[in-house]
Formats: sequence, C-alpha cells, structure tokens
Amino acid sequence: MNQQRMSKRDRRYDILFEPKDIGPVTAKNRFFQVPHCNGGGYRDPSAVAKMRHIKAEGGWAVINTEQAEIHPTSEIAPFIELRIWDEKDLPMLQRIAEAIHAHDALAGIELCYNGMNGPNLYSREVPMGPINIPIGTFTNDPVQAKAMDKQDIRNLRKWHRQAAVRAKRAGFDLVYVYGAHGFGAVQHFLSRRTNHRCDEYGGSLENRARLLKELIEETREAIGDTCAIPVRILVDEMLGDGGVTNTELREVVEMLSDLPDLWDFTHGNWADDSATARFKDEAAQEQLVRGLKQLTCRPVVGVGRFTSPDTMVRQITAGILDFIGCARPSIADPFIPNKIDAGREDDIRECIGCNICVTGDMTGGLSRCTQNPTFMEEWRKDWHPETMNPKGPSDNVLIIGAGPAGLEAARALGQRGYEVLVAEAGTELGGRVTKESQLPGLASWIRVRDYRQYQLSKMPNVSIYFESELNARQVLEFELQHIAIATGARWRRDGVARYHLSPVPVDETAHIITPDDIMEGYLPRGHIVLYDDDHYYMGGVLAERLVQLGCTVTLVTPSVRVSDWTTNTLEQHFIQKKLLQLGVTIVTAHAVTKISRHQVEVECIYSGRKSELECDSTLLVTSALPQDQLWQTLSAQKDKWPDAGIKSIQVIGDALAPAPIAWATYAGHRYARELDTEIDPDAPAFKREVVALSTDW
Ligand SMILES: Cc1cc2nc3c(=O)[nH]c(=O)nc-3n(C[C@H](O)[C@H](O)[C@H](O)COP(=O)(O)O)c2cc1C
Ligand code: SF4
Repeated sequence: MNQQRMSKRDRRYDILFEPKDIGPVTAKNRFFQVPHCNGGGYRDPSAVAKMRHIKAEGGWAVINTEQAEIHPTSEIAPFIELRIWDEKDLPMLQRIAEAIHAHDALAGIELCYNGMNGPNLYSREVPMGPINIPIGTFTNDPVQAKAMDKQDIRNLRKWHRQAAVRAKRAGFDLVYVYGAHGFGAVQHFLSRRTNHRCDEYGGSLENRARLLKELIEETREAIGDTCAIPVRILVDEMLGDGGVTNTELREVVEMLSDLPDLWDFTHGNWADDSATARFKDEAAQEQLVRGLKQLTCRPVVGVGRFTSPDTMVRQITAGILDFIGCARPSIADPFIPNKIDAGREDDIRECIGCNICVTGDMTGGLSRCTQNPTFMEEWRKDWHPETMNPKGPSDNVLIIGAGPAGLEAARALGQRGYEVLVAEAGTELGGRVTKESQLPGLASWIRVRDYRQYQLSKMPNVSIYFESELNARQVLEFELQHIAIATGARWRRDGVARYHLSPVPVDETAHIITPDDIMEGYLPRGHIVLYDDDHYYMGGVLAERLVQLGCTVTLVTPSVRVSDWTTNTLEQHFIQKKLLQLGVTIVTAHAVTKISRHQVEVECIYSGRKSELECDSTLLVTSALPQDQLWQTLSAQKDKWPDAGIKSIQVIGDALAPAPIAWATYAGHRYARELDTEIDPDAPAFKREVVALSTDW
C-alpha cells in the first residue's frame, strides 16, 4: 500500500504531496520553508539546528537557513544571522544541515552578500556596493559604501564561489543566490535605483543582471553536480519606475529562464514581503507572481502567509507556483504538512500575522512567536510544539482567567493529562485577544483563541466555567492542588507610563477614555486627543477606530514617530502613512501634561514649551495595571493553603506583568511545562552555548 493510500488526508490535498525535482535533488512534497532568520544565528547554532529539525519532523520537504553572510566585508551586525566566512563556521552549519536531513528534508542555505546594506560595525571593513552611497539600514548608520571596481566584483564572485563550496561540504542540498528584500548585492546591481554604473555592470537590464547571471553560472560550475541552485529574487521593488518593476523582472526571468534550478519570488523590501495581517491578506503577492512560472521550465516557489490548504492547492492548480513557500506559517506551526497529510487541518495553529517573530531579529534578542511558544525553545528548553512532558504527581489545576495565558496553560496542562478547571469571569474565552481582534486590522488575532478553544473542546479532562468570578474564599474551598491566576490587566486612566511615572494632573470634569472602554463598546464623539505613551500597536489601531466612528483625532506621542516600537514588526511606515491618509493630526515629541474638560496641555519633550489642544475627550494609551487583587488576597493568606490542599498558587501573564500577547502565551505554556518539576531558581532556565575560547592567546 503506498503512502498516499495509508494517509488520512483529504484527496483534494494530494497535489501538495507530489514530489518534485529541483535540479539534481528531489523534494518529497510541495511544502517549502523559505529562508527566515530567528535572532539566534551564529550565537545560538544548536537552538537554530533544533528549530529546523522540528520542521523536518513536521513534514516540510525543503528547509532553508536564514541568510548566511559569505564574507566579513559584508556582515550585518547588530543583526545575528549565520556566517559562512571560513572553516570555523562549518561545524555549526553541518549541525544544522544534519538536523534537517534527519527527517528526509532537503537542507538549503541562503548565501548573502549584503553589500551596501551592511555598515560592517563588527568587521570594520569598508562596505561595498554598485555605487558610492550611504548604507541603507533601519538605523541610518553614518557610513557609505564604496563603489565596487572590477577587482571588487571579481572578489565578490570568488567569495561567493568559495562559500558555495563550503556549503556543499557542510551538507546543504540547495545553495541560494540571493537578490531580494533590498539586502543582497544582486538586487543592488539589478535596480536602477542603486546602480548608476556606466560599465558592463550598469545601464541596460542585461548589464544590471550580469552579476546575477555570473553568480548562478559560477555556483553551478562549482557545486551544481549535486546541489540545486535556487535564486531568490524580488518580483517588484514597489517603487514604480524608480526601482525594479514587475515588467522588468519578467524580462529577467525570461532572459535567465532555466539557468537556476528554482526561482523563489518575493516582493518589495522586507516590510512589504513580511507584511502583517493588518496590512496584507494571505496570498498578497499573487498578482505580481502570476505568469512568471510560464517563463521558465524550472519550478517556482512563492510566499503569502499561506495557512489555508485550499489556498495552497489553488496556487498549484492555477499554475502560479510549484512549491508553497512559508516562513511565518512554518514558525507558528512547524507541523502544517503532517497535519494536512493526517487529515488534521483543523489542528493547524495558524499564524496571526503579527510579526512578533520579526522583533526577535530586529532587537538582537531571540525570536519568539505569539502562536507557538516553543519556537526557539526546542533545544534551549527541550520544548516540542506538539508534545508535552508527562504528567507529574499532582492531579488537578484551577486556572482563573481564560485569556491567552490562561488558555495556553489549560491547553498544555490538559495535554499533559491533568484534570483542569478553567474559571472565566465573562461569557466567552480569549480575554484581551477576543476584544482586540475586533479592532481594525486585527481580526486574524482571534486565531490565538480559536486554536486553543478547539484543542480544549477535544479534552475530556478540561472543564470550563463561564461567569465564574472567584473570590479568595471560594478558591480556598475548592480543594484543588494548583492554582494559576491569569486575570489579565486593564489600561490605566492616570497617564502613567514612560514619560510620566506619576499621575498626570486631571481636572475633575475632564473626560478620560481608555482602550478598554472602547473595546468594551463605548462610542466616543467629537474631537479626541489620543495620547500614546505605549508606542506599540494600540495607539495607531485606536486612532483608526476613532476615525471609523466619525471622530476627529489628534494623536500626541512623546516619541518622534507614531507607534514607534512597530519599527520592529516592520509596520511603522505603514501605520504612519495610514493615519495621515485618514486625516489624523500627528503631534510627535510632545507629552500630555494636564487634562481639562475641553483642553489638553502638552509640552515639547525637548524645549519644555507648552501649548494647548482643544478636545471633547482624551484617550490614554499609556500602560496597564495587573488585575491581581485575587492574587494579593490569596498570597496574604498563605498559611491557609496547606489546609485547603493547595500546593501552589502562581500568577501568570498580564496579571503578573503586562506585555504583548506572545508573552502571555509563553507564560501560560511555561507554567504548564514546569508544573510538578524541580526548578533551580539560581540557574539559567535554558541551555545556552558559549564562545569557544581561542588557543591563540
Ligand atoms: C522572522 C523572519 C525572518 C526572515 N528572514 C529572512 C532571511 O533571512 N532571508 C530571506 O530571504 N527572507 C527572510 N524573511 C522573509 C521570508 O522568507 C518570507 O519571504 C516572508 O516572510 C513572506 O513569507 P511568509 O508570509 O510565509 O512569512 C524573513 C521573514 C521573517 C518573518
Ligand atoms: S509571531 Fe506572529 S507573525 Fe510570526 S509566526 Fe508567530 S503568529 Fe505568525
């Protein structure tokens, strides 16, 4: 009996499981994890290797690394990616390739020369690009790239070839040539925007594509006997005639047609390509990619935050793609292929499109995922996304509050086999997620609740009680062994956040609103001053909501940009643009200092100069206060716990310290993992790797 017959999958998804050749190698199905970084890179190679290994276990046919710097003249500190500079990097890369091979997946590596996109803050080498121009980074580094002469170009080609040979030795099956996202030198040469050269590498499209052609040919010559050579290229720079246009790119694909073994298509810069659900839907680049497959005999892969198996199938049957490229969906659920194969599509933990995963890379931290708390903890903590540690000696747990922390704790504890009781004060599950997903652009966030709600519905050992706001006496009477308090947080009304650490003076007659008021149905009218000292999504989203409600909005923030932290989710530009388009008045670098009935006093954060804004109400998007009264009361009665049969009470998630939703699902998961286990509070809670000291001392 063949594998297809044994599988329980729906027959309409069979096409996703057909093998396909990529040059000299064969992918076992159409699930293709495109390159994505993770914040770990060369600093945490075993964590990276295990993360990729888990995806191989989850059924992906092709699994790629993040971009790997090929030479110290082009590195992108402070971002932490992989390096393939010399022999010293090989053991780390071998571990990653082996980890991917363990489940019959093909291992790919994305060779990258960032060129005029890396200031070389670590190597201190002079960056190089097609022309002499300032480095194009998120941080406006005060460094320029030198214009590459012919020798520099020959060097770059040599370094790329050497890196390709190393990649083959490390065990990789696919070795990329990369020219997308504004990051790769190939793109810098291809684009009229960044290539003003007058030699054979500039001017005509053929000349601008020369480096790309040479790199493909030379990589093939060096390793093409056993390795596939994919090209990752942008299908449109999204800058109109000023950059690479879709028409131009079609000409490039026609020109080079079968030269690479696979075409991998993305669009625009990283923010365009990895756009959040707030700004782009699933399959957003379809129109830009449609028809490209017909210009080549080679297979093509494309991306689009694909989580629906039906959309995936349509990409293939409509002749748009051969492979379903996924970065974020594979992070949120590394087991998508196996779940579809097993007829378990309903168990897919769908990506919500929030880009918290991107923030790990942008901040030099470690990536995390709102939906998948085990991401990048697969090795550090031995957390598997689909299985839990066995149940410990205790029997039951009471979880108070069914927001993201409480729901994830209940799901994971239920999976461990405990008897779990969930007491929710309201009438539905999800807490803040249910409320926030009603706001403009955040509808997909409800997936945080829906995935967990469905999993809980299948667990006979988990009971949920609605309209069950518990007091301390009731908790003590229940005689349950462990209690997790996940009662969330509420937004403050006094203006305390980053700029003001004590309350802002507020006139008795002033009309103050908080995000909770709006999410709970309050309909403001007239002119609203929205004061954002939170700096993440809430201020911008509520400004949009107020405009929808017919209000006039002035957004005041002490930051120099609207929703400043969303630079890390790649949304900031889109947010500020949208608010300006909606007619929101934006006052940056100002803090609210006094609130009266119809006036708000603001001050410039630099000069201290005060001015006044007219308004009908003031919406404070500042900070939140944990709703931990129950915890405070219970912890004051610790002496009563043993008689009540209570072994532990713990407060988790926003009720402990408010933070984004990813922090809450992580807190819930961690609570569930650690229950009934020995924890050493003096040691790091995770494994880590330390630098190997040189013997040359
Ligand atoms: C956290 C993260 C890191 C990424 N790093 C890379 C990278 O190193 N190289 C690359 O070519 N693309 C990178 N990308 C872009 C993805 O490969 C992909 O093209 C994009 O996210 C759209 O696909 P998706 O909707 O399936 O996420 C990254 C995306 C994410 C979310
Ligand atoms: S962090 Fe958000 S965008 Fe990234 S994979 Fe997870 S759910 Fe998707």
